[in-house]
Amino acid sequence: MSRARITLDRDFTIGEVPRRLFGSFVEHMGRCVYTGIYEPGHPEADENGFRQDVLKLVKELGATVIRYPGGNFVSGYNWEDGIGPRENRPRRLDGAWHTVETNAFGLHEFVDWSKQAGTEIMEAINLGTRGVEAAREIVEYANHPGGSYWSDLRAKNGHKDPFNIKLWCLGNEMDGPWQIGHKTADEYGRLAQEAAKAMRFVDPSLELVACGSSNSGMPTFGAWEQTVLTHTYDEVDYVSLHAYYQEHEGDVGSFLASAVDTDYFIESVIATADAVRAKGKHKKHINLSFDEWNVWYQRGLDTEDQPHNVIKAGWREHPRVIEDKYNVTDAVVVGTLLNSLLRHGDRVKIANQAQLVNVIAPILSEENGPAWKQTIFHPFARMAELAKGQILRLSVDSDKYSNARFGDTDLVDVSATWNEETGRVALFFANRGLEEAADVEVALRGFDARQVLRAEVLEIPEGGDRFTINTQEQTGRVGLTPLEGVKATGSELRLTLPALSWAVVELDVVKA
Ligand code: AHR
Repeated sequence: MSRARITLDRDFTIGEVPRRLFGSFVEHMGRCVYTGIYEPGHPEADENGFRQDVLKLVKELGATVIRYPGGNFVSGYNWEDGIGPRENRPRRLDGAWHTVETNAFGLHEFVDWSKQAGTEIMEAINLGTRGVEAAREIVEYANHPGGSYWSDLRAKNGHKDPFNIKLWCLGNEMDGPWQIGHKTADEYGRLAQEAAKAMRFVDPSLELVACGSSNSGMPTFGAWEQTVLTHTYDEVDYVSLHAYYQEHEGDVGSFLASAVDTDYFIESVIATADAVRAKGKHKKHINLSFDEWNVWYQRGLDTEDQPHNVIKAGWREHPRVIEDKYNVTDAVVVGTLLNSLLRHGDRVKIANQAQLVNVIAPILSEENGPAWKQTIFHPFARMAELAKGQILRLSVDSDKYSNARFGDTDLVDVSATWNEETGRVALFFANRGLEEAADVEVALRGFDARQVLRAEVLEIPEGGDRFTINTQEQTGRVGLTPLEGVKATGSELRLTLPALSWAVVELDVVKA
């Protein structure tokens, strides 16, 4: 049995939980839109073609803000292709994913779908093949009340009232050589600055995200942020981060420690942004938008849905692309990535798990068939539900294990929040130990624990192993079950985490 001793204190807080941390991402990629959220003719679809079975799961997931329409897709996308009567919308080749885009689903449909889902829109613009003009025109179309060419066209297309989209991404992964219209940091920085200026001339209330690095291993990482923010500092509010993690060649120890990289990535971007602030004598801070993150098996798999095979298969409409099936290990890693985001909630104000349905997603759906939850659905849904109020600063003294990529790493990973209004403390744990359970003791300074309101665990199910997944036939094989033996008395909480597990404990507390 390993041991971890954690101390939290009511007076030591990091900041308010940013609700936008529980964001997601819908890209026109594979089956995320088509046969994911949108499938006219499906028995569960409403008159708009929106699958209500999927919507129900999206609501249960608790996603707060959804980035759209890409991703790599957006860098070759004409937003005007997706408005107006469907029969007039062009079929286009999407070079990013080598598919045929029918444009049956576009901006109006996404706005209507978001209303049903109760989610905020985070709209990405194309700074790959397009530029300042298209950027300001889409803002006029979406947000101007009326009396101009683009806003009147919106009304003609069925939406008299403006969409009032506040949050916008200035392109996607523009540092990546794979990106359509890839640019140097100077080229992108200047374009983003001018696009931002023009967009804000139309609507000064926008919140804008500049592209940071596609991952912390990019050769330009650091220098990219510095150059881009030097150009854009006054015009933008956030800089983006993207990161995907996977198990490489059976090195599960390093995979389970992925959040160490997330911590490093976030802290490096904060340092770079603050250095630009100091050098430019700026007053405001640039915050972080971690607008793509997840587990994604990019190599090592050679299934029909991997990008190179999709290309070989020729131009198709919404083929299966990167439909990763997530196991118990992946869910534990996702729990630790969420912990890292939450622990940095003073500067990471937005985060979007990529993606929402089918494409590296917590929700899977079959054409004409059912929709169900993957293993990674559970830590996300519980944290989105329970992480409210103040983020607590923790002192963690955990036994460690050694792994090839990150050296000595805590076996127990944790984050916590305190909601003064409801009198609840929530703690989110992961045990990275593959073989050993972990004995956890939490000192609750400043609190008097009255009751354990909820204690749940995600672990290897009976008869399963760390690779166990949920399938269409067994949708609930991996899920949350009660965590037995959790004791909270006064200022102490004690629990045992099973080997390789993710757990949540919610306490009813009063101030001590
Ligand atoms: O989410 C899948 C892809 O990953 C996105 O299109 C791109 O931005 C990233 O590289």
